[in-house]
Amino acid sequence: MFGLQVNSFEFKNFFVQRIGKSTFVWRIVEFMQGISFSIDYWLYYKTGIIKSKSSITEINIEFVSYCNLRCTLCSLDHDKPKVRMSAETLRQFFEDFMSDSHFRSVKTIHLYNAGEVLLHPKLEEMLAIIKQYKDAARKKGIFFPQIALLTNAIVLNEKNTNALINSGVLDYIRFSMDGGSKEKFEEMRERAKWDVFMKNITQFCELNNKQPKKIPTGIITLVEYKNKLNTEWMSDEFKKLLDMVDGYELRYAHNWGGEVQIEELKNKKKKTYKVGCSLLMHQLVLLPNGDITVCCADLNSKGVIGNIKQEKLLAIYNKPQRKEMLHKFIQGKKKEIDLCKDCETF
Ligand SMILES: C[S@@+](CC[C@H](N)C(=O)[O-])C[C@H]1O[C@@H](n2cnc3c(N)ncnc32)[C@H](O)[C@@H]1O
Ligand code: SF4
Ligand code: SF4
Repeated sequence: MFGLQVNSFEFKNFFVQRIGKSTFVWRIVEFMQGISFSIDYWLYYKTGIIKSKSSITEINIEFVSYCNLRCTLCSLDHDKPKVRMSAETLRQFFEDFMSDSHFRSVKTIHLYNAGEVLLHPKLEEMLAIIKQYKDAARKKGIFFPQIALLTNAIVLNEKNTNALINSGVLDYIRFSMDGGSKEKFEEMRERAKWDVFMKNITQFCELNNKQPKKIPTGIITLVEYKNKLNTEWMSDEFKKLLDMVDGYELRYAHNWGGEVQIEELKNKKKKTYKVGCSLLMHQLVLLPNGDITVCCADLNSKGVIGNIKQEKLLAIYNKPQRKEMLHKFIQGKKKEIDLCKDCETF
């Protein structure tokens, strides 16, 4: 793992990689996550002792709702309307976000959710907007979250590479590289070509390495359950790319809130000892049309609780629907929440 801020998914995967999911230690980790959820619930929602800041630590921003790939384990519905975020919506979000001190709790803004961020036709303009707010925050001495981007890198051509590197916005960037070999990559990342991916990553790393202050890089690799979460069985060309970046994370598939059938998860016993969902507690997701959904496992906007064009972010954060979901988790009634009932994610 590289020395970068991690999100809740990554926190979980970091442990899975080291201790294995079926071990007793893993159960303890999950139990501790439940305790943390309960404490946060008590502090932020039940008693409201913490009033000055929100429980949100990460916000995902989805620039476009569509994607050029058809990954076999992804739940993105490719028939849903294709929406791209306007500059005005992004600006409106940052105006609201920066002016409300409750959201100083946010440590990371992720430029990804569903879809593929680099497909936004005005990528440079969007990054420039974020840069304006980043610079303004620095000038005023206000904390500004880390900005992290995740891409499938298939359209990471020289122009996009330069746009990302020169934007001055990114605190780290990661690439999705599933499989373990060229063949598995092309099978799992349907429509992606290994040679294009390899060329793009190599070019990005070469140009990035020439910068006085290079952007830390990482790779996320989804691994089939039959393989171990290590690199020993991977092909040499796959390992070569993993070595090219600053860090990588190997992970097994989750079921995207129950929207994808994962054979290996089907017959798993329900984890009755688990309490809460850290994504629900700590995350909000801004969609291209200004909608806010509750977590990044909801790739198809089923958990939308408001829209920033109609309400302030804080009002959306405080929405009764969201509080009711948190409350149901505390009561052990996850099954009563439509969005969450089949979620093996958290
Ligand atoms: C939904 S994609 C969005 C960003 C971008 N389109 C990409 O693929 O990098 C985010 C990440 O989810 C991973 N992913 C896809 N299906 C998954 C699953 N079932 N379980 C865990 N991660 C998954 C992808 O490999 C990718 O790294
Ligand atoms: S995982 Fe990413 S690249 Fe693959 S289909 Fe989903 S959104 Fe697209
Ligand atoms: S769908 Fe529900 S349980 Fe799953 S990550 Fe989202 S909020 Fe948590």
